[in-house]
Amino acid sequence: MKSFTSVKQLGDLQKAFEAAKYVKEHPFADQALGKNKTLLLVFFNNSLRTRLSTQKAGLNLGMNVIVLDVNQGAWKLETERGVIMDGDKSEHLLEAIPVMGCYSDLIGVRSFARFESKEDDYNEVILNQFIKYSGKPVFSMEAATRHPLQTFADMITIEEHKKKARPKVVMTWAPHPKALPQAVPNSFAEGLNMTDYEFVIANPEGYDLAPEFVGNAKVTHDQDEALEGADFVYAKNWAAYEGENYGKVINKDMGWTVTKEKMALTDHAFFMHCLPVRRNMIVSDDVIESPQSLVIPEAANRVVSAQTVLKMLLQSL
Ligand code: CP
Repeated sequence: MKSFTSVKQLGDLQKAFEAAKYVKEHPFADQALGKNKTLLLVFFNNSLRTRLSTQKAGLNLGMNVIVLDVNQGAWKLETERGVIMDGDKSEHLLEAIPVMGCYSDLIGVRSFARFESKEDDYNEVILNQFIKYSGKPVFSMEAATRHPLQTFADMITIEEHKKKARPKVVMTWAPHPKALPQAVPNSFAEGLNMTDYEFVIANPEGYDLAPEFVGNAKVTHDQDEALEGADFVYAKNWAAYEGENYGKVINKDMGWTVTKEKMALTDHAFFMHCLPVRRNMIVSDDVIESPQSLVIPEAANRVVSAQTVLKMLLQSL
């Protein structure tokens, strides 16, 4: 594996789950793999889980870890070619990326959708520049369209908790005050399409995701119908994808908040969310605090997913 930008690159899912199980049970078994190797984590956006879990994964593998917050302490970066750089941006990404490559063996990049251009976002302009110009294997720590390390952790968590071979998994949109990227729901849908689980996406009209991510999922605009008999409820907000509403908040209907009453429609479902979560917008206090809530095990599995992927990348060096 020369880069990791999508859960599809995990290949055989059962083998990936076995690899993750080994990593979880033997976190320090592969320290020789990372000895004298440097992991650089580059953040264009804020993070708690991804920052800490990926650092811990690198340390577990014996790596040296460097974290760069591009917007705090580094030179302000220009990302467009052809710009006359007479403003406040002192360095161009096209020099900065190969310089970062000189100092590292693997590079993780977090760069969210900017919602300025759907074409630029869905072409993953920033992430692909790292892949093209760094000279090093690059992995996504959430890019414009996908969050594969989150999805892998979510899928490991479902695998660990499912009570039947083909659980019903419902990903439901829920309200949020700000426009959030589609990376997490896109990626989760991409991952669930790799399984034979029953997979339903529930969202209000105007919030359908890109068809290439929806895949074979059943899409409904009726949340209550979707939740009937669900085994897992994966809540997430995302901004509109379609047409001129791309990147906009067009609905804040609190009737979509995941409450105790909504969970009562399910088959004693587990509640999932990638965090951070806005309580009593996305999910009520009692649901997220209930024994059926998997938000902390999901976050814990972020170390497992990152370490499994870093191990694969190190084995390919
Ligand atoms: N779920 C997730 O990626 O969390 P952070 O944004 O805190 O990294």
